[in-house]
Amino acid sequence: MPAARRVFSGRSGQILSDVSDVVRVHAGISNLPSVPTIQVCDDCGHSLGELDPRLACPDCGGLLSLAHDAPDVRGDALRARLDARLDDARPNYVAGGATAARASGGWRFRERILPSVDDAAAVSQPEGNTPLFARERVARWAGVSSLLLKHDGHNPSGSFKDRGMTVALTQAKRVGARAVACASTGNTSASLAAYASLAGIPALVFVPASQVALGKLAQTLGYGARTLLVRGDFDDCLRLVRDGAERLGIYLVNSVNPFRIAGQQSCVLEILQQLAWDAPDWIALPAGNLGNTSAFGAALRAAKSLGLIDRVPRLLAVQAAGAAPFAQGFREGFTERRRVKADTVATAIKIGDPASWDRARRAIAESDGVVTDVRDADILEAKAAIDAAGVGCEPASAASVAGVRRMVAEGVIDRDARVVALLTGHVLKDPGALVEYHAPDSPRPLANAPIEVDASLDDIARVVDRLTGAP
Ligand code: F0G
Repeated sequence: MPAARRVFSGRSGQILSDVSDVVRVHAGISNLPSVPTIQVCDDCGHSLGELDPRLACPDCGGLLSLAHDAPDVRGDALRARLDARLDDARPNYVAGGATAARASGGWRFRERILPSVDDAAAVSQPEGNTPLFARERVARWAGVSSLLLKHDGHNPSGSFKDRGMTVALTQAKRVGARAVACASTGNTSASLAAYASLAGIPALVFVPASQVALGKLAQTLGYGARTLLVRGDFDDCLRLVRDGAERLGIYLVNSVNPFRIAGQQSCVLEILQQLAWDAPDWIALPAGNLGNTSAFGAALRAAKSLGLIDRVPRLLAVQAAGAAPFAQGFREGFTERRRVKADTVATAIKIGDPASWDRARRAIAESDGVVTDVRDADILEAKAAIDAAGVGCEPASAASVAGVRRMVAEGVIDRDARVVALLTGHVLKDPGALVEYHAPDSPRPLANAPIEVDASLDDIARVVDRLTGAP
């Protein structure tokens, strides 16, 4: 067994979520002075300081994770502390400087995100505080009695990426980055562009040419990131930027950056807090590069070990059938790491070689989770049902709800289970997908084609009669 697994699970099998425990066990010493956070290699357990800008283990090249010292309180006392901070998220705050971080649904959970950062040093819009929608018709479509939609498309740049980006850009400032970069299917780049602008750091993004939804590309340009349209797919972009970042002296903020993953944990903590710390049975989320699946696993691990919840919800990670190496791996018992040439209408998750494979596998194993895939047609029908409920989301987001429906139909999820499905991006991210679905000649069952009329009230009266069912 690699050393890191020994370190993280402890020699006697206990879970070590406390940084001094990790260092003590790894180094075989006791009475270390307390440091709030270190970076630990997932594969060999090598540790780096909190301000070390390297993004891979210098010993073995493995991915790094943050390990924080345990907060001074846990259980009821920690819940009470986190709940008291909700007062700072009132809607009339002025978002600037320290006030933004105090109002943030990300930094509210600073003990698990990055405890050493002062409110004034955080690069925050703020983010988080996103709604948990109960919509009867979507629950009925999915086949469950209790379905809540956690809409992280209500973040400032319209996707869940802001939860990680606030932390990554805060860290970029702390390490004195001269520029930041990412590869993206569109949402990471939009989020990076917004937060880099706030931080005052130049940003470079690598996106696959002609494969990024219009809203995302428009945002990235508007917020001011220098945008490279790479003739290749996302996997090519990620390879390029990973190879190039160190050579070019640019700080990489893809989800291989542990500060991104730390930040994305706030989504799960916020869901649990919204449910008064009464964990649901399942949390379903769309999965592409697997950063978020990894973050969700880490957040659940922390929530349990800090006594915030007494049982861990099961994760359901959902991929698009044309971009489903992780679902294939799950079906095979993860005997092999799979890679595919990705193809799906859900461009956000059009990824064939996910970077966070091992961490996500651990998240699924620890939560007794499931990985599945759904066809593009099912993603589009789930999206149409979510849109028609007045909620709306981008195509990739709807994979979570389509996955729930599939798992209910297959008897994996009980009809009376309490399910939370994550919607990761806003409906306006991908206007092209909407226009195509609702085009006048669309064969789609929920299509709502626009009606062209003459500028005459008679014509319009006929439309109104049909709408209201008048004879
Ligand atoms: N949903 C949306 C809307 C996304 O944009 C992404 C990823 C995911 C789900 C999957 O999350 O990669 O952590 O498994 N988008 C990345 C990007 C790849 O570049 O915007 P994941």
